[in-house]
Amino acid sequence: MSVQPLPPSSSVQLSAGQVLLDPVSIIKELIDNAIDAHAKSVFIEISSNTLDVIQVKDNGYGINPDDRGIVGQRFCTSKIRCFEDLAEVGGTTLGFRGEALNSLIQLAGRVELTTRIEGETAAVKMLLSKESGSGRSVSTSWYEIWLLIHV
Ligand SMILES: Nc1ncnc2c1ncn2[C@@H]1O[C@H](COP(=O)(O)OP(=O)(O)OP(=O)(O)O)[C@@H](O)[C@H]1O
Ligand SMILES: [Mg+2]
Repeated sequence: MSVQPLPPSSSVQLSAGQVLLDPVSIIKELIDNAIDAHAKSVFIEISSNTLDVIQVKDNGYGINPDDRGIVGQRFCTSKIRCFEDLAEVGGTTLGFRGEALNSLIQLAGRVELTTRIEGETAAVKMLLSKESGSGRSVSTSWYEIWLLIHV
């Protein structure tokens, strides 16, 4: 399923007012996303002061090119389309609100997301920031791992 904005009626019902407060909650959300993307491996790098580097790489299915302009915007998710879909996804996904990446961008101010999907020859690095929203992309020759988030 592509990443789409939830209708306002559903986002109000689902909203956790989720705020990522500390490195543990950031890493937990990124691991949840990796597992939801069927990753077999997740690599976590965190600096000893827990501030300079938080980086999570996974080899799940990555983010589709069509979704790259919207990912990271609040209440945008590929996992449900409306509140009622919760009955279907129960137990099959660790997240569904479309809030975690946006909370991370709000907290960190700037997040680098590098992704490649199967069939793409090069990965794409995106700089997600509070000011620019999701968007600006640059190609990168990095191609071994399919999704990397650097906070
Ligand atoms: N590691 C990843 N691999 C592939 N797609 C991802 C990954 N992380 C995020 N995404 C895509 O970005 C979307 C937004 O992620 P985000 O964590 O903000 O929301 P969510 O997982 O849908 O819900 P929640 O806020 O409850 O975690 C996801 O729905 C998914 O489509
Ligand atoms: Mg998530």
